[in-house]
Amino acid sequence: MSASYRDLYAASLDDREAFWLDAAGAIDWFERPTRAFDPALGAYGRWFPDGVVNACHNALDRHVAAGRGEQAALIYDSPVTGAKRTYTYAELLAEVARFAAVLQDFGVGPGDRVVVYMPMIPEAVIATYACARLGAIHSVVFGGFAANELAKRIDDATPKVVLAASCGIEPTRVVPYKPLLDAALAGAAHAPEAVVLLQRPQLDAEMVAGRDHDWADLVAAAEGRTTACARMRATDPLYILYTSGTTGTPKGVVRDTGGYLVALAWTMKGLYGIAPGEVFWCASDIGWVVGHSYIVYGPLLHGATTVLYEGKPVGTPDAGAFWRVIAEHKAVALFTAPTALRAIKKEDSKGDLFRQHHLGGFRALFLAGERADPPTVQWAEDLLKVPVIDHCWQTETGWAIVGNPLGIEPLPVKHGSPTVPMPGYDVKVLDDAGHEAAPGTLGNIVIKLPLPPGCLPTLWNADDRFRSAYLEGFPGYYQTSDAGFIDEDGYVFFMARTDDIINVAGHRLSTGGMEEVIASHPDVAECAVVGVADALKGQSPTGFVVLKAGVSRPFADIEREIVALVRDRIGPVAAFKTALTVQRLPKTRSGKILRGTIQKIADGEDWTMPATIEDPATLDEIGAALAGRR
Ligand code: COA
Ligand code: AMP
Repeated sequence: MSASYRDLYAASLDDREAFWLDAAGAIDWFERPTRAFDPALGAYGRWFPDGVVNACHNALDRHVAAGRGEQAALIYDSPVTGAKRTYTYAELLAEVARFAAVLQDFGVGPGDRVVVYMPMIPEAVIATYACARLGAIHSVVFGGFAANELAKRIDDATPKVVLAASCGIEPTRVVPYKPLLDAALAGAAHAPEAVVLLQRPQLDAEMVAGRDHDWADLVAAAEGRTTACARMRATDPLYILYTSGTTGTPKGVVRDTGGYLVALAWTMKGLYGIAPGEVFWCASDIGWVVGHSYIVYGPLLHGATTVLYEGKPVGTPDAGAFWRVIAEHKAVALFTAPTALRAIKKEDSKGDLFRQHHLGGFRALFLAGERADPPTVQWAEDLLKVPVIDHCWQTETGWAIVGNPLGIEPLPVKHGSPTVPMPGYDVKVLDDAGHEAAPGTLGNIVIKLPLPPGCLPTLWNADDRFRSAYLEGFPGYYQTSDAGFIDEDGYVFFMARTDDIINVAGHRLSTGGMEEVIASHPDVAECAVVGVADALKGQSPTGFVVLKAGVSRPFADIEREIVALVRDRIGPVAAFKTALTVQRLPKTRSGKILRGTIQKIADGEDWTMPATIEDPATLDEIGAALAGRR
């Protein structure tokens, strides 16, 4: 790629057809698309409408056929169990083709859904590729969610089969997955035809006769069997990934096949600057979009090696773990969330553990998932002495909206900005009336339609919700629900969400969803949850609760119950630890809770008395409740 960023970006918008048909050349098609984009299809158009393709073929079969069979495809490194294993491309392909045969025996075929509730183990990757091979739509659910959240996803995706493991492993405890799955299936309206359960050595889970099948037995019985890759339309869904919406009902982000493959293949070189054969490590979780794109799919599409790390940045065993993995597996780049770096910095601020490892060919650190705070970026730059590249994206987009195209032309880093729009993303900042904001002026970050390949075409079974959540706010644009600005140099700054989404340790959560759970407590009259600034996790949810008249039980008991309720209904990942009882919530005269002002008070920021407030004394009560906590 010799073009400069500016030329390339302009070309992607000026001649969308030529740009993306050219990029599509990186993918093996059963039928090569003759058009890049058809604006007449779907909610805003569809990518590669006449292309026929298979994601698994592109990640595995074609590389084996081209002679990469003996190269490492996946390196599993699990400090929480002590396990390590490398799968070559040929080995991974054989495992995937075999497991696809297992799924086929359950009648799984093109378009069927398969829910995957598994931790960071190779079988989870094998399972997702087996689905892709058959044209089945996988939906991976993150292990930190509670049974209730899993049930919601099962009811929405209506899977034919659920794939699960007996447990996940957190640094301080084994997390039994099976009771959560059993509770989810008991609570869900939809019943899958089968559960295939992987018994991990750390925990043997009970099986339900007739419904549950042992993974190892089925795989052993499928020895020597293989399956062909299904011929899928580029517009067919590859997966559904649920993400927090503004209510307790998660949004099922649909990822189409062809556009996603093309976009990811472009990013491996253009954005991350990776060459085939190199080791790329994304230290996220396959339950999140970042894990889908850059643990499971991106590196293998590109003929690179991916690392599957079952551990944490700290505590498994120490804050040198990331540097150990990079050194040991010769990773040339790491992609993680700023919160992971803050955790490392807290425990090893001077880099003593870092210096125990020789990072050799390590070239760049990529950060995403939440705002990269400049002090953390600076710390990492000083320590690593390689570019620290922030980039910003959403579950909905599947790849970076804004980034620094290292593989094309590394642009100067400005702390606080993830740099510039990626190809195909026509990013604008609009004021609330829909007029373009002047450079440097804060407004709504939107993307002029169409979204580039790889971004969501719709929400699963919810076209109307897709339109109302993303397309109707600013006609002609996709609304990111982020506020920010673009500076004179075209650098984009993402400052905050404009909805009730908060970002806790790089995990996206809905305060509205937490409020729904808290409101279900029998003693609660009303509540407000805000994301309070947190030095480690970025934000931490804090609930303010008004109890029903006549409730006379000790506040502390009720607050404890509320914390337990959120953990039980949403999951430990919500990291909801603080509920504070107040007499009244601050509201406008029209009854709207003043969450923004509550948050500013909780963050110790300057705030002004809202002109529309009904009773200023309510804000004093918030201050007093917080002071009591401190
Ligand atoms: N399965 C079950 N439970 C899980 C889990 C999983 N996969 N992941 C997290 N949890 C639990 C944790 O054990 C913790 O439980 P606890 O309340 O009993 O301690 C709770 O959920 C909150 O987890 P987390 O917010 O991750 O906090 P932590 O203190 O365990 O770890 C960090 C803090 C910073 C080390 C960790 O959040 C981290 O590595 N973050 C990076 C996130 C990331 O990569 N995000 C992807 C976006 S790119
Ligand atoms: P998720 O869908 O979990 O990836 O969360 C997407 C949201 O996280 C975005 O809408 C942003 O609010 C936030 N986000 C992700 N990456 C960044 C970043 N690099 N800088 C600022 N915010 C980010």
